[in-house]
Amino acid sequence: MRIHTYEKLWIVGSMVLIVALIVTITYGSVGLGITMIDDEDENVAPNELNDDERFGEPRVEQVGENEYAAYVVAQTFIFQPDPIEVPANSEVTFHVTSRDVIHGFYVPGTNLNAMAIPGQVAEMTVEFNNPGEYGLVCHEYCGSGHHDMEGLIVAQSEDEFDLTDLSVEAPDTVAPGETVELTATVENGQLEPLETTVDAEIGNETFQQDVTVDGESSENVTFTVESDALGEGEHDWSASVDDYEETGSVEVVPNETAETEGGEES
Ligand code: CUA
Repeated sequence: MRIHTYEKLWIVGSMVLIVALIVTITYGSVGLGITMIDDEDENVAPNELNDDERFGEPRVEQVGENEYAAYVVAQTFIFQPDPIEVPANSEVTFHVTSRDVIHGFYVPGTNLNAMAIPGQVAEMTVEFNNPGEYGLVCHEYCGSGHHDMEGLIVAQSEDEFDLTDLSVEAPDTVAPGETVELTATVENGQLEPLETTVDAEIGNETFQQDVTVDGESSENVTFTVESDALGEGEHDWSASVDDYEETGSVEVVPNETAETEGGEES
């Protein structure tokens, strides 16, 4: 059978178009990694988020050598944690859920875009090629504060980024003769153990202690000083580890005052 040249061209042309269409649609639905939330995805009870392993404490944690997980909770009208600090040039998987109503999770100009739906967990894996700050907005109407609901993702360079955290417990007041006890808790969110030094100061006394914190755990370091050595009055304290510092003050007050203050507080 003889087919006219132009007809051949049209046949080939339309075949190419059909194949291109199928390739485009397939790539768009599979290749870009866009997935729909469905019943098979993990669910979470929105009213029990505080007890949830992942979302009880919204945070970023290391899950592999160059892989991190960010657990983000959206609620009227904030994102937690805020800011979300992630390392640049690593794979970060965001797990996003909502505590109350439907919110959006969108970094304008990027494909980091999801709905935060109560009961559902949206997951997106991204890599920030450049350190910098990325504004995060809620782009689903969620109530009166919707237009103010924003967050921040800070992609930090390798030198800057760490998963160390410091919290300190110290009394506000002590009576003369008592011991002032300052407890510094060093948290290590990395998989690797962390070797570091805790520096502390209470009044004029300085302390330094090396500490090794296993991966994904925390260690307490306690420093004590006799209140008699400090003397009556207010004394500043500080505790630091790496770039983190906590400060406060403790007052040595005669018994009566201390008791009164305690009573007022309770
Ligand atoms: Cu949250 Cu709009």
